[in-house]
Amino acid sequence: MATTLTVNGTSHEVDLPDEVPLLWALRDALNLTGTKFGCGVAACGACTVHIDGEAVRSCQVPVGDVWGEVTTIEGLGTPDALHRLQQAWVDHQVAQCGYCQSGQIMQAAALLAETPNPTDDDIDAVMNGNLCRCGTYPRIRAAIKSAAQGA
Ligand code: FES
Ligand code: FES
Repeated sequence: MATTLTVNGTSHEVDLPDEVPLLWALRDALNLTGTKFGCGVAACGACTVHIDGEAVRSCQVPVGDVWGEVTTIEGLGTPDALHRLQQAWVDHQVAQCGYCQSGQIMQAAALLAETPNPTDDDIDAVMNGNLCRCGTYPRIRAAIKSAAQGA
C-alpha cells in the first residue's frame, strides 16, 4: 500500500507494504543511502534518523507506523551549510571507516536539541547505544562538546 512520508521537508509516496522498515524505504525507495544498515535488531544505531526530532532506529519502525516528519543525515544541515555537528565531525576528523557515523551524528543532534551543554555522563547515557567498531568514541565525545560550545 502506498504511504506518504515527509522526509527532509519533502513529501513522497512510497509503494511498499506497511511492515517494511523505514530504513529500507529511505535507502531503497528514496535512495537516501546515508542511513546505514548495521544489525537490523535495534542493537547498533547505524540506522538512526529523527521522527519529529526524536532519534529512532529506522530498522525498527514499520513504514506504515511513521508518525511524523523524518529527518535523515542528508537533511540535517542546509543545502548551503553543514549542521554544526557535521562541521565538528570534520574538524575533529571523527570518522575512521565512517559506517556508523551518520547514526552517531543523528543521535548526537537529538541529544543537543534536548541538552544543549551535555556533560560526559549525558553524552555517554545517550550515545552508548550507538556502536562504533573503529572505536572513535573519544573523538565523538570531543566533537559533540565542540558543537555544543559553538567551537
Ligand atoms: S541497523 Fe538499526 S539499530 Fe542496527
Ligand atoms: S567509524 Fe568505523 S564503525 Fe564507526
